[in-house]
Amino acid sequence: MRRKLAAGNWKMNGDSATLDELATLAQRHAEASVDLLICPPATLISRAVSCAGPIRIGGQDCHAAPSGAHTGDISAAQLRDAGATAVILGHSERREDHDEDSDQVREKARAAHAADLLTVICLGESLAQREAQNTLDIIGAQLALSVPDSATGENTVIAYEPIWAIGTGLVPDTDQIGEVHDFIRARLERRFGAGVGRSVRLLYGGSVKPENAASIFAVSNVDGALVGGASLKAADFSPIVSAL
Ligand code: G3P
Repeated sequence: MRRKLAAGNWKMNGDSATLDELATLAQRHAEASVDLLICPPATLISRAVSCAGPIRIGGQDCHAAPSGAHTGDISAAQLRDAGATAVILGHSERREDHDEDSDQVREKARAAHAADLLTVICLGESLAQREAQNTLDIIGAQLALSVPDSATGENTVIAYEPIWAIGTGLVPDTDQIGEVHDFIRARLERRFGAGVGRSVRLLYGGSVKPENAASIFAVSNVDGALVGGASLKAADFSPIVSAL
């Protein structure tokens, strides 16, 4: 049985005051039967850890190298040292804003696994790719290249985030979500075998809100969500957690 996961990606939002929201969330879900993960900006990680209770804290990116002359970057081991136990990699905003490709994502994931971080690897198609009916080809290629051979159900989560659904209020219909999640599951089973392939959790991300969470979570092979905007306030994220 895969344990459900509700993950929040604060992106470049939040400051010390936002940690009150995290503390509220930690109190509300102290006895949660699902896993919770919040990925705040790197500046907040250490303080977030101290008020997160049962909630895992993660980074939003890491460098593939263990250390060195990489101004502004953070290594996987440094995230771990700050108290993070997870990291998001290959988010479409990283792929677009920083020209990251799937080969780089895979090397980062390898480094994250070596540092014992739960690694949330993001995949997603653009609207033009979906309209050209290339969604599964794009997802298949990103999956094959971004996920390293070191992946297991314990150290890896895949997040399907259609780029056109991020922060737009647009959400694929449940058949579209199910089609992609079933495809990812089949590809993982083919590559890693049934044991690992069936144990990796698959999250949906893109405009998840309290109002649509339950219908998304009812889709086959959806094991939770990666939530952006609605993870910033406990009042929004909490009902999403409860819908799992
Ligand atoms: O990583 C989460 C994300 O990209 C989805 O953002 O604001 O549409 O929930 P949002």
